[in-house]
Amino acid sequence: MKDEVIRVLIVEDDTAYVRLTNELLKENSRVKFELIHAKRFNDALKRLNSEAFDAVLLDLNLPDSRGINTFERLYAESPGMPIVVLTSLEDDELGVLTVQKGAQDYLSKGRVDGNLLACSIQYALERKRAEEALKQSHEQMRNLSAHLQTVREEERANIAREIHDELGQILTALKMDLSWILKKYSDHKSLFEKTESMSRIVDATIQSVKRICTELRPRVLDDLGLAAAIEWHAEEFKKRSGIACEVDFNPEEIVLDKDRSIAIFRIFQETLTNIARHANATTINVRMEKKDGRLLLAVRDNGKGITEKQISDPNSFGLIGMRERAVFLGGDFQISGTPNNGTTVTVNIPLREKAND
Ligand SMILES: Nc1ncnc2c1ncn2[C@@H]1O[C@H](COP(=O)(O)OP(=O)(O)OP(=O)(O)O)[C@@H](O)[C@H]1O
Ligand SMILES: [Mg+2]
Repeated sequence: MKDEVIRVLIVEDDTAYVRLTNELLKENSRVKFELIHAKRFNDALKRLNSEAFDAVLLDLNLPDSRGINTFERLYAESPGMPIVVLTSLEDDELGVLTVQKGAQDYLSKGRVDGNLLACSIQYALERKRAEEALKQSHEQMRNLSAHLQTVREEERANIAREIHDELGQILTALKMDLSWILKKYSDHKSLFEKTESMSRIVDATIQSVKRICTELRPRVLDDLGLAAAIEWHAEEFKKRSGIACEVDFNPEEIVLDKDRSIAIFRIFQETLTNIARHANATTINVRMEKKDGRLLLAVRDNGKGITEKQISDPNSFGLIGMRERAVFLGGDFQISGTPNNGTTVTVNIPLREKAND
């Protein structure tokens, strides 16, 4: 760090204070700072757009911008830039708020000396670097998870198609041959009985193949869309689990593109599986609606209620998967429970523009 020069844009309308800051920073012999001065907010924006800086020292009250708004606007323009607020406003609450909104530090002009200022800028740089690295790695993980989901969905759809087409055809041919034998040798008792039994086995196999294909990828989702798939799955679930599942939506309203349909359907599937496995519920209400350009899915059960601990458990991969699917589409996922009064899952996704587009 010794020979490094840290280029700092100081946004400050008081020229005398800029001179003082320069002197204060020179006291620090360890690191060299180069201060570039912008007197007004708009000058600062222009500079930031055309030159490279390591950090910004920002006064909040400028001739063309005042208060926390100054910070918010600058931060929105260059979110990757470490910003240290240096202001005469001695307001601790404002300080906390500014840092919550993304400032690296909030210093009051009356209380700083050269050393404090130099340390604050350097720490800001280091923190920002770590923050950016973390953000990048987080984004990579999110993209990887979305990519794996897509690959998995494609694979499942391919396997379902292959099994359906290949095995389906063979089994149908087998069934036809057996029917032929049955007709031809109807007077040959033992052969007839054996063939009949084989025919039943083939029927059962055809049913198994259908079930496996549907579990891998329900055709109704691709052929008839999300609304039909949700209704179908709710009905199947009711038959299998005995839990009443009421569905409330206008199917004509629920028309979504493929990615969103798959995501919502898989979230719905996992939610119902969780209810069957963990909730001890007797009824489920499913509501879906379009509102303000977003699709809302709410699934409520009347079971024992998920706990906060289960929600925040880092090993709750089912929940994490559902949240990831929603977040990747720019939406959000909420789950909450009340003891002995059920669990509610709410998913909300925008109908246009993917978050990562
Ligand atoms: N509807 C529900 N009612 C009560 N508890 C629930 C409900 N849904 C989830 N839970 C609780 O939350 C936990 C986490 O759910 P999650 O789906 O992440 O994991 P899982 O179902 O146990 O395993 P899997 O990874 O196979 O999905 C469950 O183990 C269960 O204790
Ligand atoms: Mg689960």
